[in-house]
Amino acid sequence: MVNIFVITYSTYGHINKVAESVVTGLKKAGAVVSRYQIAETLSDEILAKMHAPPKPDLPVIQAKDLVEADAFLFGFPTRYGTTPAQVKAFFDSTGQLWTKQALAGKPAGFFFSTASQHGGQEVTVFSTLPILAHHGMIYVPFGYANAHLFDNSEVIGGSAWGAGTIANGDGSRQPSQKELEIAENQGENFAKVAAKLAA
Ligand SMILES: Cc1cc2nc3c(=O)[nH]c(=O)nc-3n(C[C@H](O)[C@H](O)[C@H](O)COP(=O)(O)O)c2cc1C
Repeated sequence: MVNIFVITYSTYGHINKVAESVVTGLKKAGAVVSRYQIAETLSDEILAKMHAPPKPDLPVIQAKDLVEADAFLFGFPTRYGTTPAQVKAFFDSTGQLWTKQALAGKPAGFFFSTASQHGGQEVTVFSTLPILAHHGMIYVPFGYANAHLFDNSEVIGGSAWGAGTIANGDGSRQPSQKELEIAENQGENFAKVAAKLAA
């Protein structure tokens, strides 16, 4: 059975909600799933000023943990259309794994969240890809595997780059049913690809 880590960073919880559906999809395809969160780098004072809720009860991932997984799905919100500093700081701690190319050949995918519809969902993944390239990891996109990605009748996050949600500037919008179905679909498809690569 393929062993997949779902590793998230979330300030306001939207990504954690999307991750639940991703996990459902991964398990549906028979994967063994472990959930982790990425360490916060902001102070409690700043987080309070940002009205951030408490973090979920999940283990904080350490660089050394990564070698135990066959594959990874990373979820995080955009920051100015690119990778959050918290995620970057975590990957900056993986230098020892990089020197040994310990993660080379392991598949990875992404899901994401933005405040606005055109706030940078696709470019957030695109600008994170160099990290995978330098580790020799294999990026697994979602493609257009779910019909909701063709549905223009309402606002729907996500794209060929992965599942996504749109939170609104004040965080008031929650992941929609269609976004969660895309996320579950991504989990299921990713687990199948990861299982083939791990075989
Ligand atoms: C410093 C900062 C920069 C942000 N930059 C963007 C941005 O470029 N585009 C956008 O749509 N949302 C932006 N946001 C909004 C976050 O992406 C949004 O709060 C997040 O997607 C909600 O997900 P979460 O609940 O999992 O934290 C930014 C938020 C912060 C705090």
